[in-house]
Amino acid sequence: MAYSSFAAFVTALENAGELRRIKEPVATELEITVLADREMKAPNGGKALLFEQPTVAGRPSRFPLAINTMGSRRRMAMSLQLDDIEQLAREMELILKAKPPTTLKQGWELLKQGLNLLHAKPAHVQDGPCKEVIHRFEGEPGRGHDFPTLLDLPILQCWPHDGGRFITFPNVHTKDPDTGERNLGMYRMQVYDDRTTGMHWQVHKVGARHGKRYYERGERMPVAVTLGGDPAYTFAATAPLPDGLDEILFAGFIRKKSVELVKCETVDLEVPADVDIVLEGYVQPGELRDEGPFGDHTGFYTPVDKYPVFHLTAITHRKSAVYPATIVGIPPMEDFYMGTASVRVFLPVFRMNFPEIRDIALPAEGVFHNLVFVSIKKQYPWQAYKIMHGLWGMGQMMFTKYIVVVDDDCDVHNTSEVLFRLCSNTDPQRDSTFVKSPCDSLDHAPTFPNIGTHMGFDATRKLPGEGYHRTWPDLVKMDPAVLERMLSRFPV
Ligand SMILES: Cc1cc2nc3c(=O)[nH]c(=O)nc-3n(C[C@H](O)[C@H](O)[C@H](O)COP(=O)(O)O)c2cc1C
Repeated sequence: MAYSSFAAFVTALENAGELRRIKEPVATELEITVLADREMKAPNGGKALLFEQPTVAGRPSRFPLAINTMGSRRRMAMSLQLDDIEQLAREMELILKAKPPTTLKQGWELLKQGLNLLHAKPAHVQDGPCKEVIHRFEGEPGRGHDFPTLLDLPILQCWPHDGGRFITFPNVHTKDPDTGERNLGMYRMQVYDDRTTGMHWQVHKVGARHGKRYYERGERMPVAVTLGGDPAYTFAATAPLPDGLDEILFAGFIRKKSVELVKCETVDLEVPADVDIVLEGYVQPGELRDEGPFGDHTGFYTPVDKYPVFHLTAITHRKSAVYPATIVGIPPMEDFYMGTASVRVFLPVFRMNFPEIRDIALPAEGVFHNLVFVSIKKQYPWQAYKIMHGLWGMGQMMFTKYIVVVDDDCDVHNTSEVLFRLCSNTDPQRDSTFVKSPCDSLDHAPTFPNIGTHMGFDATRKLPGEGYHRTWPDLVKMDPAVLERMLSRFPV
């Protein structure tokens, strides 16, 4: 069943031998990064770390900090209360197959219905643990005691040239002012002072689209940021759901328990009642401020750029809140396991529109958007190009810089095998294509931000009709009967 708090998840990790406690004081400025990076680079993602005494500018923070909690295949599955992430992929497949949709749009519609049918709909409650302490910055008095500001949270300065401290695991809740539809996305937040931060929603993201509508209407945009609670919220915030598919509903589906939502104190939004910390506030139309630099997913610093400013109006929290954090940087990092889980869960959706797809992998070196390997059961000439263009047309897959398509007998999770196919099966000019496309905002390589080119490689065997006029050779493989006989006679 669902985790009742982030602390409950941290305890589950500890009981499973997946967590190491650090009792000594450790600085939130760079020092936590060193230990977290070591774990994230260890085989299979190392352990999660619980820092009992993180310090901020030499002073102990009032909250402990947990990091790398989702940074392995096992912990990622545990965060969603699964033995293996494949279980969730199978559930998605079942919903999608209930009545086969014929278009992707129908598929998403069906998925929405499926989520409703499974009683994933959120419930509404009057109060919740996230309000054990309430600190409004203006107006009515709060409740609890000893009110914190942003400067009391153990917010990390991750890397030496970062522009400051960044909230790295924030779940950002916004609402479409026209339709009232909710969105939950993860967008980092640079702390400017005790009451303001940056809001790094990139131009292609739903938070940015909502923001644009508020700017056009000349209205102040309510924003609520939640930290902690059931880790299913964090997974849902990062999952590439299409605009309009409610992440709270999706989280309810994942955790098999509807999310209890409670009204915020100072903004017209609702948040899950069991989260650890809520930052309530607003973004003012037209107000932009320098954000960055930041040591990013790409393994490079993203430069300073203009982003909206988030003004805090209240902080509410559990008395014994645990602050969740991650770091990003040269891969592999914790987010690799989160991204891989997303791909596994959404593979049935890809397959629904492209039944020839067998498997998809986003290798760590590609930091999500740079490289996708996809295997297909090829049936007709230039099918690989159909797959490339189809993927480039699907949501956040539009950012994929390189797509390599291989045959279904190639294991896309084995990068060495894919590179072997790529190098041996392609004539570079004949088997590649370039397209113009929007690019990931974080990509420093394109000449201009947010636009550039993508490249696809067809590394499948060539069929008649694909411009190859020779006989395609067979792969060198042992006779299966001899192989089995010899391996059983001479076991390792
Ligand atoms: C650790 C982590 C940090 C992220 N930081 C950002 C960010 O700062 N800005 C951004 O636009 N996307 C960021 N993302 C990616 C978004 O969370 C992701 O694209 C999500 O699907 C966006 O949700 P949306 O489609 O509802 O906007 C981050 C993802 C992870 C895992």
